Amino acid sequence: MEKIKIGIIGLGTVGTGTVAALRRNRELINKRLGASIEVKRIAVRDIRRPRQVDLPPGILTEAADEIVHDPEIAIVVELIGGIEPARSYILAALRAGKCVVTANKALLAECGQEIYQAAAEAGTEVAFEASVGGGIPIIKTLREALAANRILSLLGIVNGTCNYILTRMTEAGLSFNEALTEAQKAGFAEADPSLDVEGLDSAHKLAILATLAYDTCIPLQEIYVEGITAVEPLDIRFGRELGYVVKLLALSRETDGGIEVRVHPTLVPEGHMLASVREAHNAFYITGDTVGDILLYGQGAGAWPTGSAVCADIIDLARAIRRGKKTRLGPPSFRQPRRLLPME
Ligand code: HSE
Repeated sequence: MEKIKIGIIGLGTVGTGTVAALRRNRELINKRLGASIEVKRIAVRDIRRPRQVDLPPGILTEAADEIVHDPEIAIVVELIGGIEPARSYILAALRAGKCVVTANKALLAECGQEIYQAAAEAGTEVAFEASVGGGIPIIKTLREALAANRILSLLGIVNGTCNYILTRMTEAGLSFNEALTEAQKAGFAEADPSLDVEGLDSAHKLAILATLAYDTCIPLQEIYVEGITAVEPLDIRFGRELGYVVKLLALSRETDGGIEVRVHPTLVPEGHMLASVREAHNAFYITGDTVGDILLYGQGAGAWPTGSAVCADIIDLARAIRRGKKTRLGPPSFRQPRRLLPME
């Protein structure tokens, strides 16, 4: 059976989930693909650190460059997050003719155009399903399933930490700080939780989604962002008395004048489907001009769900490689310069 070799940079939560998912469903994946996916090398910061997944001896390296320049490796999977050195590894891998899979929302929100362009110039592809929504296939939905739609609006609960905090403040009457401590213990908060609670993580995700929805570059700094740090238990109580639930929404909408993109705490009517999205779950409520309303719901973080999305991208690219190609969809289009409406 043909082998498609991959290299993974980063073995944290998502890297561990990816390796575990590839292993758990190895036979199924091989049958579907008609080839086998072999993890050749995994780059980590410290090879002596104990790992939560069994690994063949000698697979770990501290030199990510070895993966990026290994001629046998067809797909480089970047799972370290942050801007540098992730950006440099991805650009080098693309320029070396490799396909790339990444879950790196901050990098794509800030340097997406550079990365997509480098892939296009190299005739390869960068796939990024795991960058938004964990295991929920929101990128595929926008790029593929809804390709024939104008996206009239997209409302997302895209940060599990904030949704968890707001749920616990609503249902258990916890203070913001008590709920944040619980969320951190549950393990889905970022290493620096201010990225979650101040709304920047949601803004990164919205920049990626709105770019796809509106075929234009959405600069991160033009997204209005307000997190949940100022939400008081009293706001939540008053909202409930009036029939609303407080949710941190990432929202984009197309109007005649342009596009609105914003992140802020929002009073959602109790009867709306997004109001029932509890704890760390994520959801996307999309309205397309052709399809109507769609709701996607699921786990937006965690090793297994995010590993599932990374594996789907690996399999997609492996299918293209099996057909002698290095691209599947090509880069997102940036063909329509659009006016971004200021927040009033
Ligand atoms: N910190 C993020 C969240 C992880 O809470 O949703 C997934 O991107």
